[in-house]
Amino acid sequence: MSKEERNITWQSSSINRQDREKHNGHRSRAIWFTGLSGAGKSSLAFALEQYLYDQGVRCYVLDGDNVRHGLNRDLGFTAGDRQENLRRIGEVSKLMVDAGLFVLSAFISPHEQDREMVRQLFEPDDFIEIYVRCSIQECERRDPKGLYKKARNGDIPHFTGISAPYDVPKSPSFIIDTEQWSIEEAVQEIVQHLEQIGALQ
Ligand code: PPS
Repeated sequence: MSKEERNITWQSSSINRQDREKHNGHRSRAIWFTGLSGAGKSSLAFALEQYLYDQGVRCYVLDGDNVRHGLNRDLGFTAGDRQENLRRIGEVSKLMVDAGLFVLSAFISPHEQDREMVRQLFEPDDFIEIYVRCSIQECERRDPKGLYKKARNGDIPHFTGISAPYDVPKSPSFIIDTEQWSIEEAVQEIVQHLEQIGALQ
């Protein structure tokens, strides 16, 4: 249905994104962490958030588990529900970028086409995809929430890496290998990368 058919009109604020960025003293961006459960997405996003916060950057983490407690509590883990989960988060991330914030989104986001859908919501420079790489064997060894064990026992359907697919990102902006780097090292690597591409100006 078109916007006309839905009787909706975009309402503009007198304050635009550039005003907000100037006010905040930094650019706004969407950093998108993708990777298997247990790969370290949340730990990385929260560690980066702490670093940026300490530098005076206005930032916020949108985390898969947390968002599913509220906004997306009606969604499960079928391919369709994951797509809707990521569509909503993409839109929320876009609003946050428009609000002048640095938004760090940590979602498994297993399907290439869903990540692409989110990417398309943004200007190319505004969306930075970071692949948090970790082998399924290592994720299962870590099993921080005991979910792999449950999935192996058949207690969790559609579990990513066990009974549901994960598409390895084809051309992420950056790869963090959490089997090689500590969280602290990884944060430094990401910050360096963000500086190199001018995202932290
Ligand atoms: S997705 O695929 O992007 O929509 O998933 P996301 O919103 O990031 O939610 C992932 C967290 O949900 C928990 N969980 C599951 N993960 C994968 N598959 C299944 N079936 C599943 N059921 C529950 C799990 O705690 C995930 O958190 P992380 O931080 O990734 O371990």
